[in-house]
Amino acid sequence: MLNITKIKADFPIFKNHPELIYLDNAATSQKPQIVIDRITKFYSNENANVHRGVYPLSEEASEAYDEARQKVASFIGARTNREIIFTKGTTESLNLVAQSYALNNLKKDDEVLVTDFEHHSNFLPWQNVCQKTGAILKILNSDEKGFISDEEWQKKLNKKTKIVAIAHASNVLGTISDIKKIAELVHGVDAVLVVDGAQAIPHLQVDVQNLDCDFYAFSGHKMLGPMGIGVLYVKEEILAKMVPYQLGGGMIESVSLDDVIFADYPEKFEAGTPNVAGAIALTSAMDYLLATGLEEIRKHEILLSEFLLAGLAKIEKVRIFGSASANERTGLVSFYVEGVHAHDLSDYLAKRGLALRAGFHCAMPLHQSRACGATLRASYYLYNSEKDLEFLLTSLEEAISYYG
Ligand SMILES: Cc1ncc(COP(=O)(O)O)c(C=O)c1O
Repeated sequence: MLNITKIKADFPIFKNHPELIYLDNAATSQKPQIVIDRITKFYSNENANVHRGVYPLSEEASEAYDEARQKVASFIGARTNREIIFTKGTTESLNLVAQSYALNNLKKDDEVLVTDFEHHSNFLPWQNVCQKTGAILKILNSDEKGFISDEEWQKKLNKKTKIVAIAHASNVLGTISDIKKIAELVHGVDAVLVVDGAQAIPHLQVDVQNLDCDFYAFSGHKMLGPMGIGVLYVKEEILAKMVPYQLGGGMIESVSLDDVIFADYPEKFEAGTPNVAGAIALTSAMDYLLATGLEEIRKHEILLSEFLLAGLAKIEKVRIFGSASANERTGLVSFYVEGVHAHDLSDYLAKRGLALRAGFHCAMPLHQSRACGATLRASYYLYNSEKDLEFLLTSLEEAISYYG
């Protein structure tokens, strides 16, 4: 069992905002003191650019940055640190796959498959490369829970499919996709599998070798790390099929007036000064998660999901999105209340210190396919307690009777 009081004390935001009940973790998580301290330490004691200077400070910063890459590789079970590209977040990681891989490997009439529950970051880059290459974008429609049925796969996946892009966990439904099984299907037609891990990696133990995906994208800021740092894992054999789409310093072997030889990967895909402090502090966040225990965190979130799902089911007019089973979800529940706008509800809840997201959560196609307007989303993490959710439920009932 997690000791929530002790965990909460590690996060200074809660000392500075004692009334805050933070339930917007799917948007970004709060940061523990060790992550904040690690950033301060870098800029106070270690700051120098990496892979450029030959003086000790620069060499030490380069070493720390390389070590961070190695730690990230171990955290997600990559074969080698060459498979880890640092980016500024999931959005940049997915755009990197689209621009550096897809644009150079897709041709007219090839097919790209995405689901109807993707975040815009895993939808728009594919819409864009299909428009540019003449490839066809096809949508996999999910069922009520947020799963893609076997029939839907059979109907849409075929020899023309070259890329399948799917969220490991939906940011609206919370539903966890069976990536290992999907990888088998996708590789069965010789396509590649791109996984948007933004909502999964903060909650699940991710092993990219076991999942057998070709790309795995995620953001540091949703897993206790800083904003502005993210990761793209690329299976090593695929790296050779990618061409850099950002050019500049730090990614070349040599340059002449009419030619360039790029550096080896992963540096080849990291043009410009990287977010060194961010990468190093991200590994402090990973250390914190590992020390707390990924399994314990997952168990805690399942209990919270069970509690919230049961509580919401008892409130008249509340309609829950996604699976009724806590095991099939990460730590979030989206819902709407018949006859009351989600923004009115979130305003009311905000006055009670409850921070929740209302809107389309950057997944407009999903809301359109379910023919519903804005939803409210409560997303929780290791520092949230049942008490937080109990307060949400009673405040929600009050809000409904106020507006109803
Ligand atoms: C499923 C999913 N994909 C991608 C993103 C984009 O992440 P970022 O804004 O960190 O790039 C998010 C952010 O909410 C997300 O939930």
